[in-house]
Amino acid sequence: MNSVTVLGLGSMGFTIARLFLQRGRRVTVWNRSAAKADALVASGATLAATAADAVRSSDLIVMCVYDYTAANDILRMPGVAQALAGKVLVQWTTGSPQEARDALAWASRQGAGYLDGAIQAAPSQMGQADTPVLLSGDPAVYASVQETLKDLAGNIAFLGKKIEAAATMDLATLSYVYGATAGFIHGALIAETQGLDVGVFGKLVADISPTFGSFFKHEGAVIQSGDFTISESPMRISIEATRRILQSSQASGINAEIPAFLDGLFQRAEKAGLADQELAALIKVVRSRPDAAGRRPVRDGAAGVIAATA
Ligand SMILES: NC(=O)c1ccc[n+]([C@@H]2O[C@H](COP(=O)([O-])OP(=O)(O)OC[C@H]3O[C@@H](n4cnc5c(N)ncnc54)[C@H](OP(=O)(O)O)[C@@H]3O)[C@@H](O)[C@H]2O)c1
Repeated sequence: MNSVTVLGLGSMGFTIARLFLQRGRRVTVWNRSAAKADALVASGATLAATAADAVRSSDLIVMCVYDYTAANDILRMPGVAQALAGKVLVQWTTGSPQEARDALAWASRQGAGYLDGAIQAAPSQMGQADTPVLLSGDPAVYASVQETLKDLAGNIAFLGKKIEAAATMDLATLSYVYGATAGFIHGALIAETQGLDVGVFGKLVADISPTFGSFFKHEGAVIQSGDFTISESPMRISIEATRRILQSSQASGINAEIPAFLDGLFQRAEKAGLADQELAALIKVVRSRPDAAGRRPVRDGAAGVIAATA
């Protein structure tokens, strides 16, 4: 599609519009604060007077605003719903799985094709061959816009027709990122307390990150297969490592809440008899919520509850 409309010109929407312009597309833009379009207009974009005019101008509408409340405010503006009929709306505003389901239902009622997504890169990282973004929705709709969207990101993970897949995988990857962030911060505390250069620690983390990415890809496949026979990393090693981090932190008198949480999880794995399984078996510890007595059952697939830890 050579004509594209971009709704929302915050830091990400502006970058999206700029990349489309740089790739030679005919770009129409609209933003609540019109002045943010000035630089784009100077580079050849057309600023629409209303959101409805912007939608009418192209068959592909890409939207990226602060949140779904903002997106819904724009989509409910006069004339927008009618203008969307027969068009494709790609929603790259970050949202929840339920917001994705609601948005598909609404867009379908307007007769629009709808893809829901999440951007997993900063604006300065957009437009590269390896820029990672997520999308889900009707595969035929995706096929119709795939080439155009490659202007924005070379690494589009299309997750299939479950509309909430992109938002769900975005939550899952953010969970990984913030879990790792907590560990990183405690690591920085350990280094700093010993008078070591925390910048060097950051570099060491960067050096091991590609290897850990491959490792987690393997652990994901293990969980998906349900076969927790040791294949890469026995749980026992991690039980001992997390205990060592906690005990060393306590011994040096630093805040130990992050390692205490991790050690608690791994202790429960040990009590449940998971020490001689693959590390990924830790998921058995967190699959169940505490029961009425505050005990946390550990489930092991077809075997059902194998232990209940305090
Ligand atoms: N920036 C990043 O690093 C990054 C990375 C990955 C994903 N994302 C996602 O991309 C989306 C956009 O982020 P951003 O960084 O571009 O945000 P931003 O710079 O804060 O821009 C927010 C955009 O939303 C619009 N907006 C907010 N409330 C509105 C409302 N009630 N009605 C109409 N428009 C409204 C703003 O319009 P005005 O200009 O008129 O205020 C602006 O266009 C977010 O969902 C974010 O999670 C961002």
